[in-house]
Amino acid sequence: MNPGLTLWRNARLATFAGAEPWGLVEGGALLTEGSQLLWVGRDADLQRGLRVQADHDLQGALVTPGLVDAHTHLVYGGDRAAEFEMRLQGASYEDIARAGGGIRSTVAATRAASSEMLFASAAARARTLMQEGVTTLEIKSGYGLSAEHETRCLTVARRIGAELPLTVRTTSLAAHALPPEFAGRPDDYIDEACTWLAEQKAAGLVDAVDAFCDTIGFTATQTERIFMAAQQLGLPVKLHAEQLSDQGGAALAARYGALSCDHLEHLSASGIAAMQGAGTVAMLLPGAYYFLRDTKLPPVQALRDAGVPMAIATDHNPGSSPCLSLLLMLNMACTLFRLTPEEAWRGVTVNAARALGLQDRGTLAPGQRADFVAWDAEHPRELAYRFGHNPCLRVVFGGADR
Ligand code: NIG
Ligand code: FE
Repeated sequence: MNPGLTLWRNARLATFAGAEPWGLVEGGALLTEGSQLLWVGRDADLQRGLRVQADHDLQGALVTPGLVDAHTHLVYGGDRAAEFEMRLQGASYEDIARAGGGIRSTVAATRAASSEMLFASAAARARTLMQEGVTTLEIKSGYGLSAEHETRCLTVARRIGAELPLTVRTTSLAAHALPPEFAGRPDDYIDEACTWLAEQKAAGLVDAVDAFCDTIGFTATQTERIFMAAQQLGLPVKLHAEQLSDQGGAALAARYGALSCDHLEHLSASGIAAMQGAGTVAMLLPGAYYFLRDTKLPPVQALRDAGVPMAIATDHNPGSSPCLSLLLMLNMACTLFRLTPEEAWRGVTVNAARALGLQDRGTLAPGQRADFVAWDAEHPRELAYRFGHNPCLRVVFGGADR
């Protein structure tokens, strides 16, 4: 008897591996060893007489890879419900930001919150995402905006990964907004923020570096300085690019080999070509598009024509996307952005993993991490079709039910 093997049988698999649409396997089974998938195929093709430590009958459930939410700002204090009311009365997101609200109001609330409070609120959000099958989660800093508070937020994010069963990847987003103590001195702030990275990296707190390149964020030149600091430390970059205006951010990020460019409503043809050349993922965020009542769609058909991989995330944050449902984003990617259900699914699995630089997840295939979800559904397109509905039966994190 091999003590390490666990069998999960009687499932309909959507593997997203191989060339077949969805990678569907009827009458499928998974064999796991520890945290890894050892074998994926049809029940009928399983080696006879295999002795396993545990045998789970999935009773015909649909099984997909664990979902990857590859763009969130999960750690923050307070909320922005009052700002939502102001926007409904006609104030724009940019007006509120320029008047000192927006991101900066969340910075004040985050600095005032204890680390314990930040952890408790972010862990509760992470659990909500996990209940819909999220097994890998990216968390950005960006509401601390000082060495002390950025490091504190990254530490809280790491603690979520340590205490909850899901995998957390952390991203430094010190270049998110200008903190009040640097008013009128954005270049000085960027200089200082560049110096924080080495220590954060040495403390194991940061997997990637992001910036907000826009009229209410930082210029392309300032963004490039952050990217240079990241590059010197060997940290991959990504960018909030072309969300509210076209700053040429996507082309800049592509020059630095960015993992992803995110939002992209104002992305130009040259930005698309640069992303294609660099293999950069287009991270589409329908929650922010919807919640800011944007009307400019990201150029989905041009991205598709160029073969740029597309990913989908919640962009959970208190200002532009207070959303805790990646399944709802699956639906909105189809209804608002016109992705096909299969494209949307690849966007929360294999392409989302790629946007985090992770090759060991996002599909059901031998050698991949055993992160998978059993759903009360017959076909994965049903999950893109329904909304406000959670048919998740069971989530397996690295081979373990939790
Ligand atoms: O991804 N665009 C910049 N950052 C966030 C919003 C942050 C906020 O409003 O608090 C985003 O949309
Ligand atoms: Fe964001």
